[in-house]
Parts: sequence; C-alpha cells; structure tokens
Amino acid sequence: MTKLNVNGALREFEAEDDTPLLWVLREQLGLTGTKYGCGIAQCGACTVHIDGEPTRSCVRPVSTVNAGAKIVTIEGLSPNGSHPVQKAWAALDVPQCGFCQSGMIMAAAALLKEKPNPTNADIDQAMTNICRCGTYNRVRAAIKVVADGGNAKNAGLAIQHVNGSAT
Ligand code: FES
Ligand code: FES
Repeated sequence: MTKLNVNGALREFEAEDDTPLLWVLREQLGLTGTKYGCGIAQCGACTVHIDGEPTRSCVRPVSTVNAGAKIVTIEGLSPNGSHPVQKAWAALDVPQCGFCQSGMIMAAAALLKEKPNPTNADIDQAMTNICRCGTYNRVRAAIKVVADGGNAKNAGLAIQHVNGSAT
C-alpha cells in the first residue's frame, strides 16, 4: 500500500510503478473529474496540479510522484466551485460538452497563480489543452475576467444564458 497527498488528505492506493497517476486518481481514489482524452500528453484533459505545476497525469507514472508532493485535482480546487477560475467559467458559460473543461480549468488556475495578469502570448503558451467543442475564445475571455478581478462585464463576449439573462 502506498500513499499520496491528494486534495489535502493522505490517500492509500495499490498500483504498479508504471501505472499513470490518472488511473490511480480515477479508479482507486474515485476522483473522476479528471478525464482521459488521448493518453499521450497531447490534449490536457487529464491535467492536475503537482505542487502547483500543471501536470498531464495520463503519462505520469505514479511511482515518480514524490510521497510529499501535494496533488490537487478539480475536486480539490475549491470546496464549492468558488475558485475565481470556476466562477469566471460559470459566468461566461465556457463549457459545452464539458469533457475537456476540468483540464482547462486546472491549466488556467495554474497560469493565473503564476501570472495574475497574463498576456495573450502567456495564455497561448500555457493553454495548450484541446477542446473538440471549440471553446477556446471563451476560455481566453474567462481567463481575462479572472485577471480583471472577476468582472464579467468587460469580457467582450455577448453571452445569452439559457435563462434569458445576458452577460
Ligand atoms: S489524456 Fe492526458 S493529455 Fe490527453
Ligand atoms: S467543451 Fe467539449 S471538448 Fe471542450
């Protein structure tokens, strides 16, 4: 039995050394918010934080994660969806099918922690996640909303919500 620090708690698991961290998180710890897309570090759906670094967990052998490392998944980003990135995502209705979005949010949260006011070039460099639904414009706008202190009025997007309200 081995232990990892996940979302602030020590969690036990059993896995081969070369098992990707993604499968330990999803199948042993039940943290299914982190998604499997490509399995080859290309799409970013499996992004989690390891000591604050955005990491593609599908290609990270679990044995290479230090026992003392702090892993954060989408479930641990905030207790109730109140992280500024999650709030901006909701305000701008960023997700479509949603499959890529936990990885997008984790990548954006790491970027904004390192660079609270990222340029377009910073966003291009950090946000290499793939979205089949093409939410890229809204992802960029939501990152800028966070940088702007959460003010969705300046997002430069006319968004009609399903309840008829506009942002
Ligand atoms: S599933 Fe890990 S990068 Fe695509
Ligand atoms: S919201 Fe559907 S893949 Fe990104």
